Amino acid sequence: MYGGGNTFEPMKATGVENEDPVKLAEFEARIERGEKIEPHDWMPQLYRKQLIRMIEQHAHSEIIGALPEGTWITRAPGFKRKLALMAKVQDEVGHAQLLYSAAETLGKPREQMLDDLVSGKSKYSNIFNYPAFTWADSCFISWLVDAGAIVNQLANARGSYGPYCRALDRICAEESFHLKYGHHCVIHLATGTEKQREMMQAAINRWWGPMMHFFGPPDKASVHSEILMRWKVKMSSNDDQRNQFLDMYVPKIWELGFTIPDPNLKKNTETGKWEYTEPDWEEFKRVINGDGPCNAERLAVRRTAEERGRWVRKALLAPKTEYVTPLA
Ligand code: COA
Repeated sequence: MYGGGNTFEPMKATGVENEDPVKLAEFEARIERGEKIEPHDWMPQLYRKQLIRMIEQHAHSEIIGALPEGTWITRAPGFKRKLALMAKVQDEVGHAQLLYSAAETLGKPREQMLDDLVSGKSKYSNIFNYPAFTWADSCFISWLVDAGAIVNQLANARGSYGPYCRALDRICAEESFHLKYGHHCVIHLATGTEKQREMMQAAINRWWGPMMHFFGPPDKASVHSEILMRWKVKMSSNDDQRNQFLDMYVPKIWELGFTIPDPNLKKNTETGKWEYTEPDWEEFKRVINGDGPCNAERLAVRRTAEERGRWVRKALLAPKTEYVTPLA
């Protein structure tokens, strides 16, 4: 169970008792052999539910994730940065499309997923509930949040559910461009004026806690990891992903002359693991349960987008006879 005062209502990690034991054994053997499970294959109900939960949350994170960066398109410094950021934001929304399609193969309609997002029923990544105050915040997201996403997605892309893995392969290819763009933006600030360096340092200070939260609660508190790892949906644990991110990116941040707001952060050379101050997990719980600095704003923007786009969806789905010719 997740730390004290848990407000999650997690799905139970048991729940295969009613499954046909022969089918279940064959399903697990297939996974053990490294075979992909496809939409029409037999699967335990819990596998289906867990995948819908995870892929749906991931899809929501992509469209909500487009919002903090999206607000910087009109203010990005220079035409080239505007073009690149616009393309990146468009890619993120495209990722959501791929992921909603993957989740739909498991039987949950897209409309229902979107309803569950705007009603606040579904979760999405904690990190997009923080404001992007400055251009440097947008650079932090493009470089380091996308770096974290790549660590997570490269692992998950080796998982057992075919449609999710194929979507992730494509997403990772695009994310690697985002990472290069973000790194370029940060290098520009790091080698710029004192003011630019200060702005980037302030962004690192603001985003470090949410970034540590991004990989999920510590393994000992993770509710779903055990079953997800047994069924190879999740290919590495929350703590292993966090450690991999620190291993790859802390040296790069230090190399640029920035500091990280954690005096205890260091690599233990004997274990190969990073040691750090635990981020505020109470804040994490509040944020993922709807009470972060921007949760209400993010959902309000999505609600407006849903309402404004309704006529377009209706028009696209309407039978031809319903069209009115202007001169008739
Ligand atoms: N933001 C929001 N919620 C999070 C979270 C985060 N960074 N990390 C964990 N949680 C939530 C989980 O969704 C779960 O809540 P639920 O039971 O209501 O669904 C709860 O915290 C317990 O966490 P845990 O048991 O560790 O969840 P998990 O095994 O699903 O692991 C992820 C969490 C994010 C690592 C995993 O779901 C994952 O890899 N998802 C796909 C990638 C993704 O969504 N990336 C988002 C940004 S690109």
